[in-house]
Amino acid sequence: MCGIVGYVGKNESSTDFVINGLKALEYRGYDSAGLATIDKGKLKYLKDVGRVANLDKLIKNNGDNALKEIGSAKISCGIGHTRWATHGSVTKPNAHPHTNSASDIFVVCNGIIENYQEIREKLVSEGYKFKSETDTEVIPHLIDFYMKSKKADFYPAFKTAISDLRGAYAVAAVYADNPETIYVARLSSPIVIGVGDQEHFIASDPSALIHKTKKVIFLNDYEVAQITAKEAKIESLDGAKAAAQQVVELDYEAEESEMGKYPHFMLKEIHEAPATIQSAIRGRVKPAINTIKLGGLESVKQQLGLIDRIIITACGTSYYAGLIGEYLIEEIAGVPVEVQLSSEFKYRNEPLSRGTAVIAISQSGETADTIAAIKKVEDYGILKLGIVNAVGSTLARITDAGVYCHAGPEQSVASTKAFIAQVTILTEIALHLSNGKSKLYSPLLKELVDLPSKAEETLKLESDIKKLAQKYAKARDFLFIGRNYLYPCALEGALKLKEISYIHAEGCSAGEMKHGPLAMIDENFPTIALACNGPLLEKTMSNIEEIKARKGPIIAISTEGNEKIKTLADDVIYVPKTVEQLQPLLVTIVMQLFAYFVAVEKGLNVDRPRNLAKSVTVE
Ligand code: F6R
Repeated sequence: MCGIVGYVGKNESSTDFVINGLKALEYRGYDSAGLATIDKGKLKYLKDVGRVANLDKLIKNNGDNALKEIGSAKISCGIGHTRWATHGSVTKPNAHPHTNSASDIFVVCNGIIENYQEIREKLVSEGYKFKSETDTEVIPHLIDFYMKSKKADFYPAFKTAISDLRGAYAVAAVYADNPETIYVARLSSPIVIGVGDQEHFIASDPSALIHKTKKVIFLNDYEVAQITAKEAKIESLDGAKAAAQQVVELDYEAEESEMGKYPHFMLKEIHEAPATIQSAIRGRVKPAINTIKLGGLESVKQQLGLIDRIIITACGTSYYAGLIGEYLIEEIAGVPVEVQLSSEFKYRNEPLSRGTAVIAISQSGETADTIAAIKKVEDYGILKLGIVNAVGSTLARITDAGVYCHAGPEQSVASTKAFIAQVTILTEIALHLSNGKSKLYSPLLKELVDLPSKAEETLKLESDIKKLAQKYAKARDFLFIGRNYLYPCALEGALKLKEISYIHAEGCSAGEMKHGPLAMIDENFPTIALACNGPLLEKTMSNIEEIKARKGPIIAISTEGNEKIKTLADDVIYVPKTVEQLQPLLVTIVMQLFAYFVAVEKGLNVDRPRNLAKSVTVE
């Protein structure tokens, strides 16, 4: 969704940093972009619909088209924004930054200001004129209002204005008369400050500044900051002690945010599956001493020992990982699990006993619905755990403990390697909760270690999968079926296909076919049948027979050695043998590659599917 970047320092041009930073955030999805920078004493204020590259062109063409000269500025300072429309359509006036009528205050904002109508009406009654339909535009006018009515300097007026806002936001502002400072504020929407040598960077996502520094400060809710080249002064608006100046080191390299030799981030990230599993088990899974060690759960060891029920909450792909987690934890650890969509869980009134633990799963750690789900149980005195990829993200910080995915940055909108990491970690949590008592304990520890090489083998099927994708790319509908662990896997396969290829796809338990979905089957309605070895294979094979009898084309994903399936399916992809509990990891790689090549075949924008954004920071 929307992105924010900013720079203050003398080591480089803020305009250059802002443009490059916005380009680094393009993967999140956006429809317009803009910036306000004070560079070599000239204030530039530009915005437009469309790509950041257009903005770059405009700047190059109108390089000296400054609003005014800021004589005193020795430091380069500026902010930029990519907008993903929420309030108001995709137009130039609605793009950020927004400004006051004197055009000396510039504000960019991510998130939603819930009480903007109220503020807007008040400001209009005071004579303020608005140029956009956005909620953000109230902020520069409100700061202006407080500066005039209270005869206040910019920063006190900024803080008063921020205190008036309700909703979820990250705000960055610059003021022409203080040309060497960026002001930021945060409530439920991420903002990170990068610490350089006599320079500071800001970004809504660390991947925009990782090229410059790995030292960062994550701003907390209700915190505001005045950031100059020399320092970032952070204070809390709710009277809490600002967790300020806690500089942490990002744990990934800049190259991990780049595409390298791959034509799309999605393909690169699918190919990172073996390394992702490796990172998720490194230092944790120790078959030689028959142990699993999850350092992130050490601090809540005692509470974990008392839980008798788990609720997993997540959205989209992370939710489907959660469903696989339900099967894993129930079978391996014997703890009852319920998985709830965050958007449902947060509004549900259900009894939650003290023995319940809630696990939030999120790649970004910034999904608004999942954050709201955790916030709902904040005061219930129950254990809140996270399985999060983005280090330092909101969910990582508002949960009591958790296990990081360590999958590195995921840039393609369609989540791939994060799912692989989440399922691996859910297996680890199930093993950890079983205290070694499950008969699956030792076999799974061993198999987890072998899995990266099996994932590598699976990736070698790429050219076969590409051919299949080309063969079936014209289908209008797809059904994905599976049983047991492969049922949630089928749901994820369908989601992946629909989100990047725009083909209608449904996931279904193979056992449910006869209860309705079978009616859809004809010679134009292909089914991807997940039919790997396991106690329910025969039953899935029967379901495949039923589809075949209705002339439905069948693509089977099966285990090496299953010859019989060739007689039923039109096409078969064989994955390496593994234990039933870990089959989703290999089967998912095949489905991800299939969805990818279908989208490529259809000439679609694989990494940035229409209408979608990476990291859904609004409800
Ligand atoms: C699908 C996809 C989404 C996300 C969902 C949750 O490929 O990417 O369905 O899985 O928006 O996002 P996170 O995991 O960041 O909370």
